[in-house]
Amino acid sequence: MDIFRISGGIPLSGSVSASGSKNACLPLLAASLLIDGTVGLRRVPNLQDVRTMLHLLEHLGVQVCENSLLEEGVLALRAPEELLTFDTPYDMVRRMRASICVLGPMLSRYGSATIALPGGCVFGDRPIDLHIKGLEALGASIKMTHGVLHATTQGQRLKGARIALKSEFGSTVLGTIQVMLAAVLAEGTTVIDFAAKEPEVICLAEFLNASGARVYGAGTSHIRIDGVDKLSSCSFSVPADRIEVSTLLAAGAITGGRVKVLNCSPDEVVSVTHMMRASGLSVVEEQNSVEVVSKGPLCPSSIKTSPYPGFPTDMQAQWMALATQFDGQTVVEDTIYPERFMHVSELNRMGAKIRRKGQAAFVEGPVFLEGAEVMASDLRASAALVLAGLIAQGETLIRRVYHLDRGYESLEEKIKLLGGRIERQVDDFNS
Ligand code: EPZ
Repeated sequence: MDIFRISGGIPLSGSVSASGSKNACLPLLAASLLIDGTVGLRRVPNLQDVRTMLHLLEHLGVQVCENSLLEEGVLALRAPEELLTFDTPYDMVRRMRASICVLGPMLSRYGSATIALPGGCVFGDRPIDLHIKGLEALGASIKMTHGVLHATTQGQRLKGARIALKSEFGSTVLGTIQVMLAAVLAEGTTVIDFAAKEPEVICLAEFLNASGARVYGAGTSHIRIDGVDKLSSCSFSVPADRIEVSTLLAAGAITGGRVKVLNCSPDEVVSVTHMMRASGLSVVEEQNSVEVVSKGPLCPSSIKTSPYPGFPTDMQAQWMALATQFDGQTVVEDTIYPERFMHVSELNRMGAKIRRKGQAAFVEGPVFLEGAEVMASDLRASAALVLAGLIAQGETLIRRVYHLDRGYESLEEKIKLLGGRIERQVDDFNS
């Protein structure tokens, strides 16, 4: 297992290009099961989660064509007429919750699927009741035994329905995506009420429509899908990863530097850049880039996560690290994942003064963070530790960097490009 060794205190400066979006790309990979032809993808991020999904698709019988080169972000996929198997083993699904997105396409095109229930994760329960509700509304019958879902359409074509996808925590991104993937080949029209409005939903709709689907209203709370008989070959470029963009901007902010992220959509990170401006940072937006410029002390800017276009829960940990440098008390509240605070204890070990109370944390600042040996625990908590290490006095060692490798493509290379002192090393302790 690798570790990151970071020497803090260097203001980052310069420009760096964003990678393709993990959370946009994974549904596109699952959608390749629906396509009667070849799917060409560009700007695919070379991430562990992408490799995990490809492994799962190949297990099902999807061919990764010869001209694919993940190192260059290029993939060509071809789904089979008949799947090699309807079974997706627990060992594959447990690694990544987004694996559940093969369920809808398998049912819609092949009529059957056996998939292990994705477990919870370190930041709490991750239910899929709305996924099941949506698929059953379309006519699937789903039973759960011994932690495995057995789903079938009993030889019938799925039929369009009107479905409300809303939990006590708001809309569901992958739940919306799951129903879209199942409905595009269903008979008749499906309407999703309370649909998630995340850019990843819009991206999937654009991809599906490029292959001949009829999806309308993506990005709003009401999505209409008129089922078609088949989807054909298409090629598509994965959009920039809005969470990586926000994380890189936060790295510039926390180190008192100036960082410009290229090849991205400023509109998709407005909820974060708006808060950066509120804390006293200068933010410069051009058509395909965003730059953050530090210009003095930062004032507290409290955040409360909410579904898009609200402040993203996937930036909550990184914002908390930044908030240790705000002059005063910042409240960081997560309404989507009330338990998503694994990063608090490790940040406090670095000298932060963070007190948790229910779904909120109270961050006192500014504090001098000190380099320490810390343990990554989940993808975004690990990103928060990297940000803290970049400002901490002395050296920070982050173990279990594989958590970061799930969702950030060559993060250490990007930070080095911006002048940061960070090295990836093999962890002799294998802790
Ligand atoms: C997606 O997860 C993202 N993952 C997550 O990013 C992100 O944190 C999350 O959306 C929220 O924005 C991918 O896109 C692969 P949800 P998803 O269903 O779709 C509850 C990262 O760091 N819920 O929108 O699984 C759920 O418990 C990852 O990149 C139900 O109650 O999240 C949560 O409180 C982490 N029943 C809320 O809805 C359901 O059936 C939002 O979850 C489904 C969800």
